[in-house]
Amino acid sequence: MKKLYNFLKFFLPVSIKRLFQKLFWFYHNHSLIHDFEKFKHGIYYGPITYSADGLVTCSNCDFIEEPNFAKAYAAAAATNPWPGFTLQWRVYTICWFANQAKLLEGDFVECGVNTGAYARAIIEYTNFNSLQKKFFLFDTFEGFVTDQVTEGEKAAGINKYATAYKDVYAQVRETFKDFNVQIVKGRVPETLTECQSEKICFLSIDMNAVVPEIAAITYFWPKLVKGAVIMLDDYGFPNHIHQKNAFDAFAQEQGLQVLSLPTGQGVLIK
Ligand SMILES: C[S@@+](CC[C@H](N)C(=O)[O-])C[C@H]1O[C@@H](n2cnc3c(N)ncnc32)[C@H](O)[C@@H]1O
Repeated sequence: MKKLYNFLKFFLPVSIKRLFQKLFWFYHNHSLIHDFEKFKHGIYYGPITYSADGLVTCSNCDFIEEPNFAKAYAAAAATNPWPGFTLQWRVYTICWFANQAKLLEGDFVECGVNTGAYARAIIEYTNFNSLQKKFFLFDTFEGFVTDQVTEGEKAAGINKYATAYKDVYAQVRETFKDFNVQIVKGRVPETLTECQSEKICFLSIDMNAVVPEIAAITYFWPKLVKGAVIMLDDYGFPNHIHQKNAFDAFAQEQGLQVLSLPTGQGVLIK
C-alpha cells in the first residue's frame, strides 16, 4: 500500500496526498475513532511524532535522526539499562543541557548511574574526551538503598525500586574504561567527598529518593559554578512527588525555580 502510494504521490493533488498521510498516521499510531475525536477537539495539531516514556506529542522530534544524537542514543542503549529502553526525549534533553554546560568551567557529576546510559550518551554527544573535564559517577552499582526511603515515599510506592537493579559495577567499569571518568562505588551521601573537584558545571541527580538526592545537591551546591546545570530525572513523575516537593523547597531557598519539562525531568540553573 505504502509502495503504491509512494509511486502515485507524484501524480496526486495535494488534498488527496494529505488525506493519505492522515490515513497512514491513523493506521500506524492509534485506533481511528479514538484519535479522530482528539483531532476534532484540537488536542493534536498533527500526526503523533513521539509516544513513549509517559510523553505523547505531535511536536517535531527530528533530533532523533540527527547523526550526533543518534550515535549518543545508540551508545546509551548499548549499556542495556532494561529491555525495551525507549527514552529518546529524556536522553536528548540531558545531552542538550550537558552540551551547554561544557562551555563552563568545571567537571561533570552524576549521582545515580546504574548502567551509565545517560553518562555514556553525554560522553558521546559532547565529545567528552576532547574537553579538559572529568566525569564523576556515583552509585552503589548494586541497587537502590531502601533504608533511605521515607514513610511518605514508601506510601507512594518508591520501594518498588528495591528489586529493580542488579550488580553492574564490572559492566560500568568496562563501559567507561576509555574515558576521563572516575567511578565512585558506594552510597551517597557517604561517598561524595571522593569527588576532589572544587568546580562542577553539570550535575545529574537520579537516585529515585529524596534523602540521597537532597544530600547530593546540598553537598555540591557551593561547588557548582555560576550557570551550572542541575538535571533532576524524576522531578515530574507522579510517584516521585516527594522529590519534587523537596527540590522545589531547595530551589526556593536559593531564590530559584525548577523548570518542569514534559519529559518528567526538572532543570535548575545556578
Ligand atoms: C534510575 S537509576 C539511574 C539511571 C541512570 N541515571 C541512567 O543513566 O540510566 C537509579 C540508580 O540510583 C542508585 N542509587 C539509589 N540510591 C543510591 C544511593 N543512596 N547511593 C548511590 N546510588 C544510589 C541505584 O543503585 C540505581 O542504579
